[in-house]
Amino acid sequence: MDTVVIPKYSLDRDCTTLSRHILQQLNNYSGEAQDLSAIMARIGLAGKLIARRLSRAGLMDNVLGFTGESNIQGESVKKMDVYANEVFISVFKHSGLVCRLASEEMEKPFYIPENCPIGRYTLLYDPIDGSSNVDINLNVGSIFSIRQQEGEDLDGKAEDLLQDGRKQVAAGYILYGPATVLVYTMGKGVHSFFLDPSLGEFILAEENIRIPEHGSVYSVNEGNFWHWDEGYRNYIRYVHRHEGYTGRYSGALVADVHRILTQGGVFLYPGSTDKPEGKLRLLYEVAPLAFIIEQAGGKATNGRDNILDIVPKTLHQRTPVILGSPKDVDLVQSFL
Ligand code: AHG
Ligand code: MN
Ligand code: MN
Repeated sequence: MDTVVIPKYSLDRDCTTLSRHILQQLNNYSGEAQDLSAIMARIGLAGKLIARRLSRAGLMDNVLGFTGESNIQGESVKKMDVYANEVFISVFKHSGLVCRLASEEMEKPFYIPENCPIGRYTLLYDPIDGSSNVDINLNVGSIFSIRQQEGEDLDGKAEDLLQDGRKQVAAGYILYGPATVLVYTMGKGVHSFFLDPSLGEFILAEENIRIPEHGSVYSVNEGNFWHWDEGYRNYIRYVHRHEGYTGRYSGALVADVHRILTQGGVFLYPGSTDKPEGKLRLLYEVAPLAFIIEQAGGKATNGRDNILDIVPKTLHQRTPVILGSPKDVDLVQSFL
């Protein structure tokens, strides 16, 4: 009788899905592990909905462009910002998983009393990062951070969120590029997943990603050169005058940080004379990315303190940031 040969690899990968990976990471099936796995699956669902809308945006009416409104930061809001903000709310509203959502697009957190206290977490997020890229079909991202809900927050002051970045239970980002990639950490390494559109699943691509010690890329908006302190200008003069450095800046933090995470280098958004705190927001942009970078062996600082040690005074507080490969962050700091 002929032997039936079972192909060793019937799939390209062994197809570890995002939610299974979380359970494996936590190594148990406790209520907490199940909740975190379910939260991550919902974040994945939000990512799939946003990726789908972005991929069709040019074919639909009323998806691209500005709404005509400004957000709490005084920035013009795009239709995709509003859509993506609402996607996160709608995937979590009736989930019983999170008690509150706080985002760049909402002055006060969106409180879901019916989910409390079963939903023991708060989700902080930047629904569309790099929204100037949306209308021209370039990379954008979403950034997320999960924190424990501590007590009630009926007045929306979010005081329990005003704690350092080490309080993050999990954090990560979704990059909408040629493929959609989700990268997360729960404090046990950094892991990436690619969206397989035919399966509708995020499939494990790389576990325990390590950032190179050094990379050639420096990523910064040099248009602000004359608004920075002299130290930053001297760093830029240094990389201009030495071999082995190259500039890359996409206008979307998630894309620039993803490049640096995988290939090394440094991302900077310094403060300027008129905006000493810079542009980027601590709680839902910089702290989650700092958590990722640090878990991958990199560094993240505001030039003086470790980003993860900064205790914000307000929900939408901004911070200067230098993050990336340890040697490149040290090099920038040596000029400050
Ligand atoms: P957002 O679209 O969420 O407001 O964030 C934009 C951020 C970030 O993605 C990017 O690195 C930076 O703003 C670009 O700002 P500049 O145009 O000032 O360089
Ligand atoms: Mn952003
Ligand atoms: Mn945004």
